[in-house]
Amino acid sequence: MPLISKLPQVGTTIFTTMSRMAQEENAINLAQGFPGFGSDPALLELVAKYTRGGQNQYAPMSGVSELKLALAKKTQLTQGYYPDPETEVTIVSGATEALFAAFTAVVRPGDEVIVLEPAYDSYVPAIHLNGGIPIFVSLNPIDFSVDWELVASKVTSKTRAIVVNSPHNPSGQVWSREDVEQLASLVSKTGIYVISDEVYEHILFDRRVHISLGSHPILREQTFVCGSFGKTFHVTGWKIGYCIAPKVLSAEFRKIHQYLTFSTVTPIQYALAEYLENPQHYLGLPAFYQKKRDLFVEGLKSTPFTFQDSQGSFFQLVSYAHLSKKSDVLIAEQMTRQLKVACIPVSVFYSTGQDHQVLRFCFAKKEEELEEALRRIQKIEILFD
Ligand SMILES: Cc1ncc(COP(=O)(O)O)c(C=O)c1O
Repeated sequence: MPLISKLPQVGTTIFTTMSRMAQEENAINLAQGFPGFGSDPALLELVAKYTRGGQNQYAPMSGVSELKLALAKKTQLTQGYYPDPETEVTIVSGATEALFAAFTAVVRPGDEVIVLEPAYDSYVPAIHLNGGIPIFVSLNPIDFSVDWELVASKVTSKTRAIVVNSPHNPSGQVWSREDVEQLASLVSKTGIYVISDEVYEHILFDRRVHISLGSHPILREQTFVCGSFGKTFHVTGWKIGYCIAPKVLSAEFRKIHQYLTFSTVTPIQYALAEYLENPQHYLGLPAFYQKKRDLFVEGLKSTPFTFQDSQGSFFQLVSYAHLSKKSDVLIAEQMTRQLKVACIPVSVFYSTGQDHQVLRFCFAKKEEELEEALRRIQKIEILFD
């Protein structure tokens, strides 16, 4: 009997494909979203300290108390509210697990989940695996703003949840206070849950601030805030993240987490707890990334691309729609093979592959690497003939 796939549309992701192509072509990889530089040696030392010190057995299911407490304190400092560390904070194996567990906690067969697209690729499979139906709403293709009337028009009696992401991958768009209020008035008193992907919470530009949905008194009651230490501390390979949600939601979330992974890597939890004691370790991130974003957008100004400066995350979009109607997948491939710079075609972030001739670059790379990539990208016009 052939196995009938539960995810028939899912194949190898574009991130794997482009990274493999980048490797084959010896191209600079600005495709996949991971930092091209190391973490703070002090953090690595802390991990060594706790592994050598013997913290190598299972952690408590919901996370070690020290890390949950440190995260609650960070949330108080940056977002002005204090989640109960023992009942509202759960440490998980990456934001991907947090998102999956949150979807699994709330989505039942036949439930509708509103997805704003372009969207990060883990949301839709998680909805499908739980028998849910994604209801897609496109963001404005120029500035990636949310059309709240359009979102409201998609709400039905079957709407169980909405998944949102700010700072946004792939666009770099950051929600305003107005967006947060619009969402609050849309979902208040409806029983619609909010799954808020905030993995780029500390990567913001031009003095922007991140408004966590957990900081909103109405939204807090129905939101799962999902975060990632991998993104914040340049250690994406560690796969460690968290979920903050009210006690009743966290209780259901933990039931899923308990049987997905049970618990998360112990010595790293202790190391992060100690590292978080110094708020500068995360408050310094905007200045660190601003230099890279500025260098990258300055260089892009002497290319024929059009773009809006990224507001947050470590991604920059560029458009070539005024130059060519060639597909973004083709241009991304040609850029990798001929110019030796890999990027991601943004059509892959849409359920129907909408192609607006837009490419995504990751600028979480060393400055020399960005400069070399920019030199190569200058020749982009040869791809449009
Ligand atoms: C928007 C978004 N959400 C979630 C994740 C996954 O985070 P983690 O590596 O902590 O699972 C990523 C990673 O690329 C992301 O870009």
